[in-house]
Amino acid sequence: MARVKSVFICQHCGYESPKWMGRCPGCGEWNTMAEEVLNRTDRRGTAAGREGSRPVAMDQIDLSKETRNSTGMEELDRVLGGGIVRGSLVLVGGDPGIGKSTLLLQLAGNVSPRQRVLYVSGEESVKQVKIRGERLGISSGNILILGETDIDIILDQVKRITPDMIIVDSIQTVYTPEISSAPGSVSQVREVTARLLQTAKSMAIPTFIIGHVTKQGAIAGPRVLEHMVDTVLYFEGERYHSYRVIRSVKNRFGSTNEIGVFEMKDKGLVEVANPSEFMLEGRPAGVPGTVVVCSVEGTRPMLVELQALVSLSNLGMPRRMATGIDYNRLSMLMAVMEKRLGMQLQGQDAFVNVVGGLKIDEPAVDLGIVVAVASSFRNTPVDKTAVVIGEVGLTGEVRAVNSIDRRVAEAAKLGFGHCIIPRDNMKQVDSSETRITGVTNLAEAIDAALES
Ligand code: TYD
Ligand code: MG
Repeated sequence: MARVKSVFICQHCGYESPKWMGRCPGCGEWNTMAEEVLNRTDRRGTAAGREGSRPVAMDQIDLSKETRNSTGMEELDRVLGGGIVRGSLVLVGGDPGIGKSTLLLQLAGNVSPRQRVLYVSGEESVKQVKIRGERLGISSGNILILGETDIDIILDQVKRITPDMIIVDSIQTVYTPEISSAPGSVSQVREVTARLLQTAKSMAIPTFIIGHVTKQGAIAGPRVLEHMVDTVLYFEGERYHSYRVIRSVKNRFGSTNEIGVFEMKDKGLVEVANPSEFMLEGRPAGVPGTVVVCSVEGTRPMLVELQALVSLSNLGMPRRMATGIDYNRLSMLMAVMEKRLGMQLQGQDAFVNVVGGLKIDEPAVDLGIVVAVASSFRNTPVDKTAVVIGEVGLTGEVRAVNSIDRRVAEAAKLGFGHCIIPRDNMKQVDSSETRITGVTNLAEAIDAALES
């Protein structure tokens, strides 16, 4: 084997050094330097497509081959930007146990009638994958399972059987013997991904790689892979809830911020075609402190229930707790309520929760938060037919939001008879579908929303 040049790279900040050091001079972290090979694979391969070293006139480039293949799951197709692109490298990240292996095995099952899939399993034995497949009702001669972690052997097999799709579960278990650091280290993960990328591009095989997210929310330490791959999908959800959201955070072939919603059932992941219905399941009626808001994820509006509990505090410093929304946003909105509405919230504990464990970081739910807090504080229920939409400014004004037509249409579709929206948005909505109240400030919104 030719001697490979290597360099030591800090796993924390990316500082490079020709020799190993105990402490990284870049960030001061201890024991973070790991060896990485400096060879051809790193340099080549990362360019999208290797065909042609001559420039091509833009109007001569043929896109006819760029047809997309369906994953057999509409929710997944949408986050991919309309299906699987030939030769694309897709990273699927998420916490352990969230359902990444399940999703990709189901994907393999869906395409297996027409395509041959190589499922590389480094995490589980071939038998374990078979057992999972049995549970999911998947068994096909077109799904080839390879229990291997050495990238050279894996790529040899790819060349031998030329599959139509490759799934690598997971990237942290695959290694190249050329690098001394352990599988899962930044250098290994990067090198192995570069090799897979090269193969995906040169053989035009779509490749899915699973990556575990670490505690800090990054794949394999720093986000070392995101820039190399074409598409990055994150699988989110709460351990104690059955819904799973798959979100695209990078996509060279489509828009980002699209989401797909699934439910984890005993026979695998089931698509949730109507997430609003799902999120509103079990909503209590006629009690103070609950309100329905509408958040837009990508192109898709979703109705979600917000709950607030405001109660007299016996602490000098009352508690504020926010689950699913930004804590600082909650503090800010409560300060606006105190100042502009004269509500005596200073001595109150306040807890606000997005039901279902979803995270929302959209200002369009501001008004919903205000209404939920006011409802609990005054012990008066919110009109149960209402959906509350609007951003709140520091002077207590209600500001217009984007995609108002889609939000209102979603509310109407789910049978909500009343939408409370910013006055500035009134022109953009069709008021024949549902009753619309336009509001300009918090006081008007609360008047409109709370039952009298
Ligand atoms: P898995 O796909 O192994 O997660 P990951 O690959 O992201 O680590 O999913 C594991 C969890 O999903 C496990 O807690 C069991 C649950 N599960 C179901 O509820 N139903 C199923 O049909 C399957 C296969 C798994
Ligand atoms: Mg797994």
